Amino acid sequence: MRIFATTTLAGLEDHLVQEITALGGQRVEASRRVVYCEGDKTFRYRANLELRTAIRVLEEVGHFRVRNEQELYNGLKKIDWAPWLKVDGNLWIDCVTQSERFRNGVYLSQLFKDAIVDQFREKTGERPSVDKENADLYLHLHVDRENYVSVSLNSSGAGLHRRGYRKRTGGAPLNEVLAAGMLCLAGYDGEVPFVDPMCGSGTIVAEAAMIAAHQAPGLHRDFAFQRWPDFDAGLWSSIRQDALNAIRRPPHPIHGSDIDELTVNLARLTLDRTGLLPHVQLTEADFKHAVAPTPVSEENGGLVVMNPPYEMRLQTGDIEGFYEMIGDTLKTNWQGYSAWIISGNSDALKSVGLKTSKRIPMMNGPIEVRFCRYDLYKGSKE
Ligand SMILES: C[S@@+](CC[C@H](N)C(=O)[O-])C[C@H]1O[C@@H](n2cnc3c(N)ncnc32)[C@H](O)[C@@H]1O
Repeated sequence: MRIFATTTLAGLEDHLVQEITALGGQRVEASRRVVYCEGDKTFRYRANLELRTAIRVLEEVGHFRVRNEQELYNGLKKIDWAPWLKVDGNLWIDCVTQSERFRNGVYLSQLFKDAIVDQFREKTGERPSVDKENADLYLHLHVDRENYVSVSLNSSGAGLHRRGYRKRTGGAPLNEVLAAGMLCLAGYDGEVPFVDPMCGSGTIVAEAAMIAAHQAPGLHRDFAFQRWPDFDAGLWSSIRQDALNAIRRPPHPIHGSDIDELTVNLARLTLDRTGLLPHVQLTEADFKHAVAPTPVSEENGGLVVMNPPYEMRLQTGDIEGFYEMIGDTLKTNWQGYSAWIISGNSDALKSVGLKTSKRIPMMNGPIEVRFCRYDLYKGSKE
């Protein structure tokens, strides 16, 4: 069994615990923006391919406490790097430090690189190179406040939010993992009609379509572990095939719309790259006049998730009036649905004028946002 540290966004830890447990992770434990567990090579492959709310799957190869640079260098050099990197391979190191004593992450990364290079040179007379864009091995060094050092292999490489389906975006695209996390927090499993009426380049719709289709989020990209010397092509191919076999036709309608025609075309490109465009309707529409494309009863319900402008990157000119319009349209034309709005403008959210049944604080990049739920039934206007 190996020790995994799977990173995520703030607020998604509990959901990631559920996902990791469902994948068979052992001794699962959440901390801030990370979930620890034990697992094997199958877990490594499935976690990267299937986890919707993970950013990186790190695998610990060393954990020790240090008092000075020499101890850090010695500890890093003591780890046997030969199983993970060939002498003519490339490596890249990222470092995060919270230590008062070791403050300079760039310097620590260089020290780490020296330790590895010196180990290879002493054994073989040759050394691996450094290459950020095209590394065979991505490493992660974390030093905490107590000077505990955690050394990990980054089995994902580029963050798992880079699903590979989004090439061009609109003005203020959401991080794909945040979009997936919002849908999970809203309890979406594909079993009710879904709408994003301000879909932009289609991130939320793409994540919803993949959830509804039981499609693994990582099917359209590669991962760092595929270049490791222990890569098991047969195991990987059978895990990928299982994920392909699990894909189903989404059982309920999925709809995205936006006021901007160009943006709807971007969403179409996004959905096309997921392979799920035939199962999604995308239209150009002003939400002001939008009616629910699939009428639902209060009993069966439907889900609306939207990420309207905050008057930061995207401007409306009258943000309070804009959010009031959202509330009025939801109340009038979307009865039976649950609507979730993510916004960084808490004053504007007050103008929605509907009773908030849940409010979840989250971060959209550097912006503090609220993810709010409104249940739309007759008389739901405050
Ligand atoms: C923050 S962006 C959404 C970004 C999207 N979640 C993504 O990841 O690409 C807000 C979107 O709302 C759209 N929008 C603004 N006013 C609208 C309206 N009245 N009706 C429908 N869409 C509107 C904008 O065109 C923009 O694409």
